[in-house]
Amino acid sequence: MTDQTITSVSRESRVFKPSAEFKGQANLGSFDNYRKLYSESVNAPEKFWSRQAKEHLVWRKPFKDVLQWKPPFAKWFTGGKLNVSENCLDRHLGTVRENKAAIIFEGEPGDVRTITYKQLHFHVCRLAHVLENSGIKPGDRIAIYMPMIPEAVVAMLASARVGAVHTVIFGGFSPESLKDRINDCKAKLVITADGGWRRGKVVEMKANVDKAIVNTPTVQSVLVVKRCGNEINMTEGRDTWYREAWVGAPNQHSAKAFDSEHPLFILYTSGSTGKPKGVLHTSAGYLLGAKLSSQYVFDLKESDRYFCTADIGWITGHSYVVYGLLSNGSTVFLYEGAPNQPEPDRFWQMIDRHGITILYTAPTAIRAFMRWGDNYVLRHRLDSLRLLGSVGEPINPEAWMWYHRLIGKKKCPIVDTWWQTETGSIMITPLPGVTPTKPGSATLPFFGVCPLVVDSDGKEVPRNSGGKLVITKPWPSMLRTLWGDDERYQKAYYSEFPNHPEYYFTGDGARRDKDGYFWVIGRIDDVLNVSGHRIGTAEVESALVSHPSVAEAAAVGRPDELKGQALVVFVTVKSGVEANDGLKEILRNHVGKEIGSLAKPDQVRFAAGLPKTRSGKIMRRLLKELAAGGEIKGDTTTLEDFSVLAALKQNDE
Ligand code: WT7
Repeated sequence: MTDQTITSVSRESRVFKPSAEFKGQANLGSFDNYRKLYSESVNAPEKFWSRQAKEHLVWRKPFKDVLQWKPPFAKWFTGGKLNVSENCLDRHLGTVRENKAAIIFEGEPGDVRTITYKQLHFHVCRLAHVLENSGIKPGDRIAIYMPMIPEAVVAMLASARVGAVHTVIFGGFSPESLKDRINDCKAKLVITADGGWRRGKVVEMKANVDKAIVNTPTVQSVLVVKRCGNEINMTEGRDTWYREAWVGAPNQHSAKAFDSEHPLFILYTSGSTGKPKGVLHTSAGYLLGAKLSSQYVFDLKESDRYFCTADIGWITGHSYVVYGLLSNGSTVFLYEGAPNQPEPDRFWQMIDRHGITILYTAPTAIRAFMRWGDNYVLRHRLDSLRLLGSVGEPINPEAWMWYHRLIGKKKCPIVDTWWQTETGSIMITPLPGVTPTKPGSATLPFFGVCPLVVDSDGKEVPRNSGGKLVITKPWPSMLRTLWGDDERYQKAYYSEFPNHPEYYFTGDGARRDKDGYFWVIGRIDDVLNVSGHRIGTAEVESALVSHPSVAEAAAVGRPDELKGQALVVFVTVKSGVEANDGLKEILRNHVGKEIGSLAKPDQVRFAAGLPKTRSGKIMRRLLKELAAGGEIKGDTTTLEDFSVLAALKQNDE
């Protein structure tokens, strides 16, 4: 890193005010209320969080201190005891929610199941007994490797109920990745399924587990849910059918209370290089962050039916499918399969069929829908929707407008939520009905969150200049450490600004506009240096995608003798568009017009697809190596589709 700040080139200036209709029913009511509550939350954080923790969580033993902060280590609500699963389930029993749907599930083949809070409670109680009977003690690690089926939620909550620590490993990961993660956290038990449905085929999950655990000495037993009925091997003495173990177990389970800081889960997230980082989240603070943000950001109402398209293997699935929503007593819709199975309108079909009111998805998915064509959307009414959300990467204004027009029918607010696996819950976000939105901006901080855009010395940069995004104060749902590696934790997140050892470095570049709105412009590692200007990838990509021929784009730098770095962009075109030299020139000029000639790409390369992680993030590091004309050497275990890379190499000019 040099001392230079980042030049921000985005020119988006549209503002969307909340409609009177949405505003009239919003949980927070007015922007003034937001300002008041926000300012209390950062000026008197202990008072604010103490009140929220008492109001939102069910405690078995009250906490003594709100926060003990010895940077980079935080402890929240010490002295308190609670049970996280009780906070998601038992609290709703004996209330009007008892017989309300907790989960509405649709499998990829079209099978539908509805599970009420009362039913979910007894599912979890039974599994809690099974876990205890198989020797699981508080603090033991359980690996969950499952398709998106209700039993995955049950497994997480049962683990929490007995004080075990779950690590959910996304069902698309290979046996090798599974093995590494199991070994890193020394899991004792694996919960899996025979298979899961994906694009009409069975993903052989149990077979993957069998391969992985040849080399995982700590795993003693495997519980297997029957989902697809595909043939599998069961190893005597090690593997048990979930159903068989579960059937004899009692429906009630008296849960123990655990300390506020008792570990709840480990979630592995790919470091840009090297082995995955085991992000550790603990109980009370995490749950409070997830619950409070769900309630306000999604403006939850008793009648909502909420659909988050993220897999349970990502933090979004943890916070905004399971913990945040169930603790609020909401109805969560769960879908097992692919968005284009059998056709690209599957989501829209399900939204109409189940009367979904809130949709939370990712820009990469939105761009895929745009590419597939509006007709798939226009076949459906979508009139039950009242709120839309976006997460995972900066949403380019083009996609934002499409989402707003085609899906939201111009009446649904869009909440563009910025956060990370590490932050546990949403950090920067509009509140619907309250915050005026600008396409591409995550807008303003959530309660208790203190973000700042700074230069390399940790000094705040002037408005509209780019810089590094930091969080200057601890918050309840922050990660506590990296599993078994306090030193890596400190290095990765609290070492960027030696004169501010208490600043959490997000790794993102951002800019704040004149209204104080935050615009995330990409990962700092990916920042482009074009003729001495440091520009965020998101801004160049957004300019490219605003051209009607372009479906998706990735911008990377290539070493250049003259300029230091030349700008190379990889572009996929919309269906029906011819990718030829003429278009290359048009796109170069388009970026020149949108941003200025300084950002005109030196090279435009067409691609059939871009290499992405399994959660949909473009792996620019690989494209950078490719653009530099070299071999791809770095770690590719998180790559979703290897054929994309092969095709890109072939296309080499
Ligand atoms: C990184 C975190 C948070 C759950 C899903 C991803 C990028 C995420 C936004 C947004 C701009 C965003 C950031 C962040 N990101 N949401 N609304 N606007 N950028 O979790 O895999 O831990 O990734 O995703 O770069 O640091 P994750």
